[in-house]
Amino acid sequence: MKVLIAGGAGYVGSTIASAYLDEDIEIVVLDNLVTGRREFAKGRTFYEGDIANRGLVTRILEEHPDIDVAILCAALINVSESYARPKDYYRNNVVKCLGFIDSLMASGCTRLIFSSSASIYRSSEMAAVDERAPLEPTSPYARSKTAFEWIVEDISHAGPLRVISFRFFNPIGADPQMRTGLQSSETSHALGAMIRAMTTETDFAIMGTDYATRDGTGIRDYVHVWDIARAHISAVQLFDSIVSVDNPYEAINLGTGRGTTVRELVHKFNKVSPLPIHTVNLARRDGDSAGAFSNFEKATRLLGWTPILSLEDGIRDSLRWAQMRRGILGD
Ligand SMILES: NC(=O)c1ccc[n+]([C@@H]2O[C@H](COP(=O)([O-])OP(=O)(O)OC[C@H]3O[C@@H](n4cnc5c(N)ncnc54)[C@H](O)[C@@H]3O)[C@@H](O)[C@H]2O)c1
Repeated sequence: MKVLIAGGAGYVGSTIASAYLDEDIEIVVLDNLVTGRREFAKGRTFYEGDIANRGLVTRILEEHPDIDVAILCAALINVSESYARPKDYYRNNVVKCLGFIDSLMASGCTRLIFSSSASIYRSSEMAAVDERAPLEPTSPYARSKTAFEWIVEDISHAGPLRVISFRFFNPIGADPQMRTGLQSSETSHALGAMIRAMTTETDFAIMGTDYATRDGTGIRDYVHVWDIARAHISAVQLFDSIVSVDNPYEAINLGTGRGTTVRELVHKFNKVSPLPIHTVNLARRDGDSAGAFSNFEKATRLLGWTPILSLEDGIRDSLRWAQMRRGILGD
């Protein structure tokens, strides 16, 4: 089996690539390195370029006619940046992605796994959200992901494209073998900010303490990136039984089913980390929401998937990667 991974030099895509290689599934990586890293594609079949480059995508599929499935991880993903540059986000995450689908379909590649996001859901801190829960994307980033889900769903109903949209909750951790991890130490996610606070010996800022959650801080569902990668193994193996001509589209949550507030994450972090962090309370950040956590029963039913790594594993692997990152990436 062979899989094309667009965005395969980024955080999630490169982890998925490692998981496939471990299973003897062949991979081809396409990435323009806008945020991805050449180091993450080293030793892997790699095409540098844009998903919107029709000639390139066509050439890849001519050179690898045995590609069975395409994974679309390529996207711009920074929520605050998306408020400042909405056009760029819609162009990249919608227009270029549509061009990519066109190129795939023109070359006869009709199996797609799309990386969607839990940020498309309405906040629901009281109950786990399943795939039928109301959508209410707030940021241009989240809206671009929602728009593309709708686009591929509509296209799949017109045939012959079949699509699995995986709605990732909050990926943390790194490849347990430390081949890849988060490429940037400047991430705005809570765990990245905690690691930065630890290494710079500064206070960790809790952004917003007046949400309607059990302790007033935002709630998230932190899922180990390796568990997300594992779901992609089952998805390619079971693809034809999950989506068919009669049922060409499925959206599937990938989360742990457990909500963790920022304060709870600080508490866990301080248990795992060699150096405890201290916190300071600040106002809410633009575009942030109280959050949500997943119901992942559908992933269990369709893929036999359950997360196996814990929140502690995710924090520990993020800390290990943060120590090794500079050595591997050199900056
Ligand atoms: N990391 C998260 O917190 C998170 C959460 C939910 C969903 N997702 C989704 O998962 C996917 C992967 O996210 P990530 O965290 O790995 O981000 P990332 O920035 O690490 O990876 C994205 C990759 O896509 C590449 N890329 C972007 N635009 C491209 C284009 N036009 N042509 C070719 N390559 C392009 C980048 O260079 C990068 O390597 C995204 O679709 C994102 O929306 C991520």
